[in-house]
Amino acid sequence: MSILSDLQIERVAHSRRESVDYDALSFAGPFSDHMFSMEWEAGRWQNPRIMPYAPLSIEPGNATLHYGQSVFEGLKAFRGVDAKVRIFRPDRNAERLRQSCERLCIPQVDSGVFIEAVERIVEIEKDWIPERRGESLYIRPLIFADETHLEVRPSLRYRMLILTSPVGSYFDRSSPAVTLKVEDVYTRSAPGGTGAAKTAGNYAASLYPAALAREEGYMQVLWLDGVEHRYIEEVGAMNIFFSIDGKIITPELRGTILPGVTRDAAIALLRENGHEVIERRIAIDEIVEASQKGKLDEAFGAGTAAVISPVGTMAYRGEEIRVNANASGPTTQWLYDRITGIQLGEVDDPHRWCRVLSI
Ligand code: COI
Repeated sequence: MSILSDLQIERVAHSRRESVDYDALSFAGPFSDHMFSMEWEAGRWQNPRIMPYAPLSIEPGNATLHYGQSVFEGLKAFRGVDAKVRIFRPDRNAERLRQSCERLCIPQVDSGVFIEAVERIVEIEKDWIPERRGESLYIRPLIFADETHLEVRPSLRYRMLILTSPVGSYFDRSSPAVTLKVEDVYTRSAPGGTGAAKTAGNYAASLYPAALAREEGYMQVLWLDGVEHRYIEEVGAMNIFFSIDGKIITPELRGTILPGVTRDAAIALLRENGHEVIERRIAIDEIVEASQKGKLDEAFGAGTAAVISPVGTMAYRGEEIRVNANASGPTTQWLYDRITGIQLGEVDDPHRWCRVLSI
């Protein structure tokens, strides 16, 4: 029997939904009325409940605040053109969360429990789901150490929460394509590190180089490998793809980049559409050379928040590589339309990636 069979539900007295401007959704919040919560204590997950979204009470000595033992996920629910609610590939997020937990010494959550918890919070918050293409209810599961201690060791108590938030585009819509600074000083991860885990520290460590990139006028950082500062890794908020001379190339998974759920979907859909997709190491020099020879046709990122986002500029060592005149190329656009079409129920979902809720 699932531990969610005794899920307790406490509803808010008054929803904040009406105060949200659905004509101006970005990726900045707000969070919706309720959140899912459960605790790991005495060696098991317990006390599952859906409760009003509210501040937590945390002791100053909480281990997460000091040592960052926390992991999170990101997935989305959509209101389809048939008015049905679809959640995109929660099984993949459940699996990645398990892997992140293992790397961070956090107790794992059963995939079935994870998926059911996601479904239950989305059911409760269904009126918060936006309806327009490019918008969704973003789902943010997180687990953190919830014990007060000073030693550097895995905690004995944890808290899992699932928050939701109506969101629009992750990137500023006034820019037609994402601009990247290729970072060749700071690195995001190294072999044997936590690069493949979705853990808070990876994101904290990216903030300083990202701030420097923004000062130089670029929206995001394109990370290179942590050993040679030569091979392309990812963007932090998305995995990266290049269309070069008729082939699609994306960095292979070597334990240093996030195994993106949208990355996986993009590879499958492109291959089904007849594209040759190659997962391999790709040096930044190769991109520079392809651009110089006029063979760099498109570049795009793939991520849950970013969806499929065209990349228009990559700045490397003071030179700018321009891609497709800063516009979304045909492959990028096709992929965006295809993925969002599946998520909105406009086209067939042959892989059954979407879980359609019966609400
Ligand atoms: C996501 O795409 O869901 C992420 O977690 C990336 C984050 C930087 C918004």
